[in-house]
Amino acid sequence: MNIGTGSAGRQVYVGGEFVAENEARISIFDHVVLYGDAVYDTACAWDGKVFKLDEHVDRLFESAHALKIEVPLDKAGVREVILEVMRRNKLDHAYIKVLVTRGVGRMPLLSPYNCAPNLIVFAIPYLSLVDSAAQQEGIRAGISSLRRIPSECLDAKIKCCNYLNHIMMRMEANEAGLDEAIELDIDGYVAEAPGYNVFMVKQGTLYTPGENILVGITRQTVIELAAAEGMETVVGRLTAFDLYNADEVFLTSTAGGIFAVREVDGRAIGRGGPGPITQLLNQMYVELLESGERSTPVYT
Ligand SMILES: Cc1ncc(COP(=O)(O)O)c(C=O)c1O
Repeated sequence: MNIGTGSAGRQVYVGGEFVAENEARISIFDHVVLYGDAVYDTACAWDGKVFKLDEHVDRLFESAHALKIEVPLDKAGVREVILEVMRRNKLDHAYIKVLVTRGVGRMPLLSPYNCAPNLIVFAIPYLSLVDSAAQQEGIRAGISSLRRIPSECLDAKIKCCNYLNHIMMRMEANEAGLDEAIELDIDGYVAEAPGYNVFMVKQGTLYTPGENILVGITRQTVIELAAAEGMETVVGRLTAFDLYNADEVFLTSTAGGIFAVREVDGRAIGRGGPGPITQLLNQMYVELLESGERSTPVYT
């Protein structure tokens, strides 16, 4: 049985060693399998350089610390494993995933104590979660009937492997013929989207939610790029009404970049395609990735 992505010879890191992808194994008793008990981060590499590597590794460690999962290596060690996975697979443009699972514990299985955490790293040629048509035309989104799990129950800042809440919302949107869901928090304010942060533009000002969200690294990059253009970002509460009446709405993520939402709940946003500020920020973002200014070289 081929349990990999089908690329013979690709190597991944698991259980403290580099192995062929189709020979990688984890225990079925690992808490990630049984309970989704793990943290992860997704980074990307452009032209042989990993974008904001330190920020991704820092966020991974913060997520792990919050869940009391001990990362088996220190930050320098994790950075080196990521770069070595890139080198062993001779990748330039890549989608990189790093996980730390709680590991296998003693009986009873639910106990989170005395487990041996497992660091897993893989990298594949860059794949965008957004196809080129969506990039050019924007996507159609709908407000989900479900609500994002409140941070009082599971802090949204923790990038953990339990994505059921997001998955259910994406399925609901897809099954209604839409590309993506917009997630409201339990009080009815816009939170994020399944795997993306949400921005809107109104009269030249950017707005983005600050509560009940994963603090996205692309989101932070957009805030910095906008500031460099003299554009203010207001972090605060937004409603569905605000999105319906925005000049532009866009989503951001490492694996999708910056792309427009052209419709929310059947209401056209602005002129119904990527607006000028979305396009400008996307162009600046791509230039920043290409420049390598905020990236760590893989090959020295
Ligand atoms: C729930 C959620 N929100 C936002 C994001 C965007 O974060 P980043 O820009 O760091 O990729 C992600 C990325 O995986 C996510 O899973």
